[in-house]
Amino acid sequence: MLANLQRHLPARNSTLRDDTVSESVRYGLIGCGMMGQEHLRNIALLPGASVTRIFEPDDNMAQASLALAPVAQRALGLAEVVLADDVDCLVITSPNFRHAEQLREIARLRALPVLLEKPACTALHDVASLAELGRAYPAPIWVAMEYRYMPPVVRLAEEVYSQVNIGPMRMLAIREHRFPFLVKVGDWNRFNQYTGGTLVEKCCHFFDLMRHLTRSEPVRVFASASVAHNHLDEYYADGIPDILDNAFVILDFADGQRASLDLCMFAEGSRYQEEISVVGPKGKVECFVPGPGRFWPENLGPAPVPRLVLSPRNPKGPRELEVPVDPVALAAGDHNGSTLYQHQRFNAVVRGLGTVEVSLHDGLAAVVMGMAAQESARTGQAIDLTQGCYNLGVLLGENSSITSIGL
Ligand SMILES: NC(=O)c1ccc[n+]([C@@H]2O[C@H](COP(=O)([O-])OP(=O)(O)OC[C@H]3O[C@@H](n4cnc5c(N)ncnc54)[C@H](O)[C@@H]3O)[C@@H](O)[C@H]2O)c1
Repeated sequence: MLANLQRHLPARNSTLRDDTVSESVRYGLIGCGMMGQEHLRNIALLPGASVTRIFEPDDNMAQASLALAPVAQRALGLAEVVLADDVDCLVITSPNFRHAEQLREIARLRALPVLLEKPACTALHDVASLAELGRAYPAPIWVAMEYRYMPPVVRLAEEVYSQVNIGPMRMLAIREHRFPFLVKVGDWNRFNQYTGGTLVEKCCHFFDLMRHLTRSEPVRVFASASVAHNHLDEYYADGIPDILDNAFVILDFADGQRASLDLCMFAEGSRYQEEISVVGPKGKVECFVPGPGRFWPENLGPAPVPRLVLSPRNPKGPRELEVPVDPVALAAGDHNGSTLYQHQRFNAVVRGLGTVEVSLHDGLAAVVMGMAAQESARTGQAIDLTQGCYNLGVLLGENSSITSIGL
């Protein structure tokens, strides 16, 4: 059974080529909290790479970061990092609401290659101007979308694109059942005004995966969501947190595929954190991805291993394949090794090899989908992404040929 499945699937991580050579690339980090430190651990695995400057305003986080990047100097501000002559590229890992202003300042100071953490921005009025910035920026900008680079998701994408076992994709369902938002420096992730809203902050990853897997553009979105349970007993200067903790989102795509997202953020008891299913006329392929290994209780034994399940219609007979992640990549972060694979490719781009795979355009498209979903949940109305305030083509500055499809 397994051999049968393996015959149809390319070798493990085959699309995660390792272009690393010992050519030097020097990184400057803007913001270095939890995710910034995951980037530091992964940059440390790249031959020839070093982190030379870090701008991190919080003393504890700065100390923890410098311990991970001993040759780095702490900078007093963003400009000091951007203008340093020992910095070849930047990684922006500041809170979401800083991303747009920092990208603008970098563009004004010195156009270095940038790896920008998602989401690219938190306000609709920033989308069009950032899209324009992206078109004019003379160096690469790559938006960090780690889910694309998780080995089980890479295998799923290979299966979807090949169409060998399922035929052309018609339906895509993504379920994330996970733990509540963690505590962040300054509690910025407790309020929509700083995150962009849960469907932007957290779910832009999944909207990006939808565009990545369908290779099509979304035309309509409908969402139902609420703050049902999480953080309601917490009080801050800004009040009680207003971030959504559960949602169903449905999207139609221009090429006729439909996709759904099922998000629950009080469901960390699940064995798998993400379950993705793709169905075509010949069969179904599913992908099961565990959450961070550090949250898996020791008394339950080893953390779950990612899995792919292929279920043809004829002849029937589901086939399963484990897709283990390289232990070194796995240990360097919370994202099933994907941060390392993404860094290998970004590093190659900085060295003039390879091309940007997740552009600012892609990052902004995912943000607009999340914002439209937030708006749909607020109003109870479906949002058309081909006209009005959420017209994706207009916001992203394209002569979009996307037209609405019939229901
Ligand atoms: N791709 C992923 O899977 C993933 C996962 C987690 C976080 N993220 C993203 O990474 C970013 C950081 O998230 P985090 O979890 O590390 O949060 P965090 O709060 O742990 O870290 C953010 C850091 O930025 C610092 N900071 C605050 N204001 C700043 C400024 N103006 N300039 C520079 N730094 C500033 C804070 O002191 C803090 O240390 C967010 O955009 C988040 O959405 C992405």
